Amino acid sequence: MGIDLTSVQLAPGSRPFWDPETDETLVCIDVDQETHDVKSFTFASPEGKQFQFEAGQYFLFDFPTGAEGEARCYSISSSPQRTNTFTVTVKRVPGGRISNWLHDNMAPGMSVKGQGPLGHFTRPKNGSNKLLLLSGGSGITPVMSITRDLADRYEAADIVFLHAARTPSDLIFRHDLSGLATRMKGLRLQFLPESTVGEKSWPGLTGRISPEFFRLAVPDISERVVMCCGPAPFMSAARSICEQLGVPPCNYIEESFDAAVIDEPVAIVENQPAAKFYQVEFSKQKKNLEVSSAQTVLAAAKKGSVRLPSSCSNGVCGTCKSKLVSGSVEMNHNGGIRQREIDAGFFLPCCSKPLSDLVIDR
Ligand code: FES
Repeated sequence: MGIDLTSVQLAPGSRPFWDPETDETLVCIDVDQETHDVKSFTFASPEGKQFQFEAGQYFLFDFPTGAEGEARCYSISSSPQRTNTFTVTVKRVPGGRISNWLHDNMAPGMSVKGQGPLGHFTRPKNGSNKLLLLSGGSGITPVMSITRDLADRYEAADIVFLHAARTPSDLIFRHDLSGLATRMKGLRLQFLPESTVGEKSWPGLTGRISPEFFRLAVPDISERVVMCCGPAPFMSAARSICEQLGVPPCNYIEESFDAAVIDEPVAIVENQPAAKFYQVEFSKQKKNLEVSSAQTVLAAAKKGSVRLPSSCSNGVCGTCKSKLVSGSVEMNHNGGIRQREIDAGFFLPCCSKPLSDLVIDR
């Protein structure tokens, strides 16, 4: 289903670009059922602005669920060459608040707040187009965007697109990819279902990724740039197999939105000033913690069982953005917050260490 783009008033002629610093309202213009539990949602700017992003990036959405709303990052699955809109593809996660809300509620005509593009999971600049695009489950979205981008550019590429899923019916973009492979000379598809439940016959291999599988399916893997996205166990297996098969670490790139909170040890360096401790109050949850000046606020919050949304834990995605009511922090972000938000008193707890006692509106 979908709505006509003209209904979101695309201005004729040259149209302005979406400004990540000031624009935030998106309107859903189309919803597509990709598999039994995966949908694609396409968004446009209500003013008809064009989007500039790189294949592999994502948007941070603020969904109007509950009293305060909730933030989630979703990778773009569409081609950056098609600038009127962008699409994210979302799997319904059993018990997942946002994915279920999206599947059940998001429809053409609905507005949502979004920030982006964000993220650095993009093809290496001046790098080789000899790629292994490796995905597990819904991790396919950014590598699909990369493939669609290369197809739209008619750029010469040598791609092995390897997608692993539970069963053939869980293979996202199966038919779209087959269509792309018929017109992209350098695209070779390799689907790897764990089992063939629901499929009468399956022409290829089945099972999980393994060194033996890669030796058969991608014998020149060590010459390829590997871009991997999927659940944490999938990526961990892929990383170690690639290492074992001679892929240099600089040619292995991965993306994950799993929140891995790293306990940051206090570095013991001679002459380094001793860590100080500050009182940090999470006003809504009525919790107080003592936080070291060598520790991020998010790491301390996780340890202290304070609820704080997070995703990248690296100052990139903006999921943990919070209002600092009082106090000051040393923040080292990677693009996950805008200057105007900092000016308005917001900060990212995942990459901020306290410089004083703090009160946080969480
Ligand atoms: S969790 Fe991503 S910016 Fe903080």
